[in-house]
Amino acid sequence: MPLSTFIMFAEVAKLLACSRFAIAFTGAGISAESGVPTFRGKNGLWKTYRAEELATPEAFRKDPPLVWSFYRWRMGKIIRAKPNPAHYALAELERMGILKAVITQNVDDLHREAGSRGLIELHGNIFRVRCTSCSYTENLKESGRLDEFLEERDLPRCPKCGSLLRPDVVWFGEPLPQTALAEAFSIAEKADLVLVIGTSGLVYPAAYIPYIVKERGGKVVEVNTERSGITPIADIFLRGRAGEVMGKLLSEVKRVGE
Ligand code: OAD
Ligand code: ZN
Repeated sequence: MPLSTFIMFAEVAKLLACSRFAIAFTGAGISAESGVPTFRGKNGLWKTYRAEELATPEAFRKDPPLVWSFYRWRMGKIIRAKPNPAHYALAELERMGILKAVITQNVDDLHREAGSRGLIELHGNIFRVRCTSCSYTENLKESGRLDEFLEERDLPRCPKCGSLLRPDVVWFGEPLPQTALAEAFSIAEKADLVLVIGTSGLVYPAAYIPYIVKERGGKVVEVNTERSGITPIADIFLRGRAGEVMGKLLSEVKRVGE
């Protein structure tokens, strides 16, 4: 590792160890090493598929079988994915009392799988379905019905009222879950450091999170393979793959704490 990178790791480890209320803000890039494709960038989902035909309320109204086949396919892929060292590092930093919350735009459940507790999911969860008419929701992973659900070819119906079920994720043009967003903003206001990992920082309101921390005088530390919409306000930019960078950073934080 070049000396400058080495110094940066030591610096971030020190900042983390001395922080009062550190949080993480994550995007699809943190799960790339787990084999979950990102949205933008070279192998991004929105390069192969058209977001407006699959991830909008209009698309679902127009062609629910198409949208459901896309989401069943993604659920099937994501259920086989395992957390990587970046997810585990965040869970460990939380257990160490350093990280107070993880705010994620991901719907893949990998932070929870890795053991993160203070988790805020801004864009929903791909394993949850909800009724388009009544208040019925179900987490298919928890109910043990995922395999059956993925094998089914018919459109999924609500067991309570018979209406169409939909994925409990946020689509383009939809508001974010109110409670999760309010909680995320209030946590960001308290934070004195945010680790921004693997997000293009282009999708709002989620992308406000690092700006809120910065505005209140907190440090912004970014981990990404490329520059992003957040890079201009980053105090420290650690270039590299999230799993590799976070693994090294965790070791460094443990070394600082010894
Ligand atoms: P994007 O696909 O927009 O961005 C992924 C980011 O991860 C890019 O900045 C990449 O450079 C970076 N990246 C890729 N591989 C990486 C790796 N191994 N380690 C670190 N960084 C890596 O994903 P998001 O920013 O999460 O919204 O996208 C935001 C939202 O747009 C998503 O939540 C989704 C999408 O449409 C909804 O579904 C509502
Ligand atoms: Zn219903």
